[in-house]
Amino acid sequence: MSVHSETTARHTTQTIQQMKHAGEKIAMLTSYDYTLAKLVDEAGVDIILVGDSASNVVCGNQTTLPITLDEMIFLAKGVRRAADHALVVVDMPFGSYHASEEDSVKNAVKVMRETGADALKLEGGVEIMPAVKKILSAGIPIMGHLGLTPQSVNQFGGYGLRAKSEAEAERLLRDAHLLEEAGCFSLVLEKIPAALGKRVSEELHIPVIGIGAGNGTDGQVLVLHDMLGLNQGFKPKFLRRFAEMGEDVKKAVGEYVNAVREVAFPSEKEEY
Ligand code: KIV
Repeated sequence: MSVHSETTARHTTQTIQQMKHAGEKIAMLTSYDYTLAKLVDEAGVDIILVGDSASNVVCGNQTTLPITLDEMIFLAKGVRRAADHALVVVDMPFGSYHASEEDSVKNAVKVMRETGADALKLEGGVEIMPAVKKILSAGIPIMGHLGLTPQSVNQFGGYGLRAKSEAEAERLLRDAHLLEEAGCFSLVLEKIPAALGKRVSEELHIPVIGIGAGNGTDGQVLVLHDMLGLNQGFKPKFLRRFAEMGEDVKKAVGEYVNAVREVAFPSEKEEY
């Protein structure tokens, strides 16, 4: 029997941590709206991330930088209403935990209060430690995020593989330990060598969830629209498409358009 079914119907940060210790892999996906989140939850995902990738896949921006705190809150409210089983984690957007510790905790409390989320995710290591500690001191669980941190794209000049060099890998390891010591309940590692993903997962006691970090991590996360094939223009090496829903949507919509034009819809059976 899994950790989850033995304990409670709804995941908590504790049941997610117990999964690592029981050797159970953690399945995490993003969602941004009630309808898809309900399907994702019913399909058995352990963690739903209301990712700031909404800026790309929902809003059509080039980066995650433009999405605001209020926009994240709007999306997270719908997801939270849908999730009866999964832990709901919300991304703190760019700039919402950088100005000051006071500002960070104020924004974090606003997200928790208005959305009913279970936890927040913040990108960065030693440089965001004051904000991490302040938010944790308010009793808010935090998931860390290291490796490729899309909110810092302008500093790195792109979305390439991170922690390739020994020095960068050592820095990432140090940051991972710092986040664990501060009290983060889990950590996301994005787009780093698989050997490093495995090493961090073995060294840390908290669950490490990878995206493009190999299969040695304690769990995996993907962007829902990418893995369903809805976001057709994006196909990095780490992404597996589990469906081609973009094609299905276009086919269904095309058939609807034809049916309307040919006056084949609605039929008599579809009339009152
Ligand atoms: O915003 C997001 O979707 C994320 C995942 C890629 C981990 O941070």
